[in-house]
Amino acid sequence: EISFFFPKQQTLAMIKPDAMEEHKDKILEEIHANGFAVVQQKELVQSKEAAEEFYTEHREKPFFSQLVEFMCSGPCMMLILDKENAIEDWRAIMGPTDPDEAKETFPNSLRARFGSDVLHNSVHGSSTEEYAEEEIRLIFGDISSDAELADDGETDT
Ligand code: PPS
Repeated sequence: EISFFFPKQQTLAMIKPDAMEEHKDKILEEIHANGFAVVQQKELVQSKEAAEEFYTEHREKPFFSQLVEFMCSGPCMMLILDKENAIEDWRAIMGPTDPDEAKETFPNSLRARFGSDVLHNSVHGSSTEEYAEEEIRLIFGDISSDAELADDGETDT
């Protein structure tokens, strides 16, 4: 069977180390239930250098070293999600950065359900098209635009 895959909008989604053990399956369910195509996914433990590069826009923030240390503390799952309006839709499903705020305002969001604080907030999503492109490139390298629909659970630890 031949199937064609036309990319719509792509975003980089991450299940952070704090959510991997207990909540990964529920988060993946939510991704599929919301109609995202998973173009690629892999589990990895980020190196310090890779995490610093990923979060380079926050280099000057007081929480930068804490953030990098946490991101390297265990495996993450990285996914390329594709659908119309993927960037905004994924961020809506995640909820606000701070899980306490999320619990108040968006109790069904992932961060309300699975996050504990502004650092351990269970998921990440690219904020703009430019960041999405850059984050996908950093994590997955240059992928061809006619990428086939692959959901192979490749692990890369
Ligand atoms: S900012 O300052 O508005 O740009 O920050 P924000 O976009 O809210 O958050 C950027 C990422 O940094 C994490 N973060 C923190 N970590 C530790 N301590 C504090 N105080 C803190 N504030 C924000 C937050 O989880 C964001 O991670 P991502 O993966 O980008 O969602």
